[in-house]
Amino acid sequence: MTVTYAERLQGFDWSLAEKDLGIRRGDPLNIGWHCSDRLCELGLARKPALIWEDHTGESHTYTFDDVRRYSDAIAAHLLSVGLKPGDRICLFMDRLAELYIGFLGVLKMGGIVQPLFSAFGEDSLWTRLDNAGTAAVITQMKHVKKVRRIKERLPQLRHIFVVDGAGQALKAPETALAMRELPRPAGFKVHPTTAETPSVLHYTSGTTGQPKGAQHVHYSIVSQYLTAKWVLDLRPDDIYWCNADPGWVTGTSYGIIGPWANGVTQVVLDAGFNAEAWYRFMAKHRVTVWYSAPTAIRLLMRDGNELVRRFDLSSLRHLCSVGEPLNAEAVIWSQEVFGKPFHDTFWQTETGCIVITNFPGMKVKPGSMGRPFPGITATVVDPATGEPRTGPGQVGVIALRPGWPSQIRGYWNNPEGYRKKFVNGWYLCGDRASIDPDGYFWFVGRDDDVINTGGHLVGPFEIESALLEHPAVAESAAVATPDKVNMEVVKAFVALKPGYEPDDDLELEIMNFIRKKLSPLAMPQSIEFVDSLPKTRSGKIIRRILRAQEFGEPVGDISTLMND
Ligand code: WT7
Repeated sequence: MTVTYAERLQGFDWSLAEKDLGIRRGDPLNIGWHCSDRLCELGLARKPALIWEDHTGESHTYTFDDVRRYSDAIAAHLLSVGLKPGDRICLFMDRLAELYIGFLGVLKMGGIVQPLFSAFGEDSLWTRLDNAGTAAVITQMKHVKKVRRIKERLPQLRHIFVVDGAGQALKAPETALAMRELPRPAGFKVHPTTAETPSVLHYTSGTTGQPKGAQHVHYSIVSQYLTAKWVLDLRPDDIYWCNADPGWVTGTSYGIIGPWANGVTQVVLDAGFNAEAWYRFMAKHRVTVWYSAPTAIRLLMRDGNELVRRFDLSSLRHLCSVGEPLNAEAVIWSQEVFGKPFHDTFWQTETGCIVITNFPGMKVKPGSMGRPFPGITATVVDPATGEPRTGPGQVGVIALRPGWPSQIRGYWNNPEGYRKKFVNGWYLCGDRASIDPDGYFWFVGRDDDVINTGGHLVGPFEIESALLEHPAVAESAAVATPDKVNMEVVKAFVALKPGYEPDDDLELEIMNFIRKKLSPLAMPQSIEFVDSLPKTRSGKIIRRILRAQEFGEPVGDISTLMND
């Protein structure tokens, strides 16, 4: 029987989750221990924790006891080479089992784990490792070259480990880290981190400046556990699939911590998107709960209903989505082909957990994000004053009252950047929405220049800086342009230096330049060559005008910008 939203709200307190997890205030608290050792103590040692499969269909099952032992071994090894609690340790690899288990390993030795998307190119990687002062990178052969090329410019980087490098000729300071071959550490003790000890560092893009390191703490598990249980509706016998990459927050909050804190078996597919392969994977493993994203759903829709009907997906019980607005058509389609609607969930890297959502059992209004999770006070406000804008038809910026367990504690080395996110006692999400009379939130759009491509935020500044490194580029602006599948993609406006002529070859060359330096996500899908860019009087490029043109929207009042 599904518990109603009203019942969940009744007398809600986060201590409910502390009680379930056996957390006592003031005692040591370590996510790594909670997601492995504790489950073994509760009798789940032989239960599969991770069923991992790659694109060839090769699969491997790890029990909670395997996860416990291997993460202990990794933790002990990291300590044995001189890494210390508090060190930033980066995981830079595809969705290998070592990524999920290594994540717990770093936390168990008291390190701050910094997962980075393996498709990042050298510049994206360097910016984030440099900012964090990262001491070690754990990677794989396929990606080690990118680390090699930048290591000279990272004086704090002392160790590079290669998880599949055993037997290969590695270069100093690289060493092989073969999880299964590491000695069983005798008497290894999980580092006694506490609730407020930093745990995960995720880099997220804003409008200005380079990406910021969102700093989570071990106490986040309290919200991640309870939202996974109530919103994803996880139950002991579930087979859960979150198709997000742990390089992004969905892949850690709900691709590692949430499900494992609940002792749930999860499946991982280490392969790119392919509709048929995805359906086959879900049918094969009898997946019951699936956490996905609108872009993926649109890609599946594109491949048609006949394909999905070829697979027995009757095991699916609950579907959720995150990352971008879930369009009504996607909800209606999923109802048609899976017999269930996707439930939208809204949150951010900074919130650490789902904050606004359609609960299981709650009436889904297709196109709406649903209502706040119990324990979350949310509204929409005027971003300048922080005053609520909840009247009929009013739109404001989504605002949350600070203080839920998984709220980040700051941006790494950037207290000012974090302070700017608060107005009148509210944390501002940077997204515009309205609230209907039933208390449902309706997403309108971002309140800044950040580009959301396929559920991934890309910062225009990072792209513009990289564009300026190309010898032909004098000035540049990166903005979102609408896209049928990815919602938005990057478009660049470029003014060339004297002596360069715009043509298709140069466009392609610049596109590839960005793909290699940053990532395929950040690569402009098109470049418009212009003579000059719209600027304020003080010379700041006004992206808003370009963006409005792309979306066919009115430019609005720019007189204040012109006076900048
Ligand atoms: C931004 C956060 C939260 C995990 C994935 C992204 C957008 C997120 C929704 C949704 C409309 C959404 C917002 C938000 N977003 N969920 N359900 N409907 N937009 O984490 O990289 O920090 O991105 O993604 O713009 O602020 P993130």
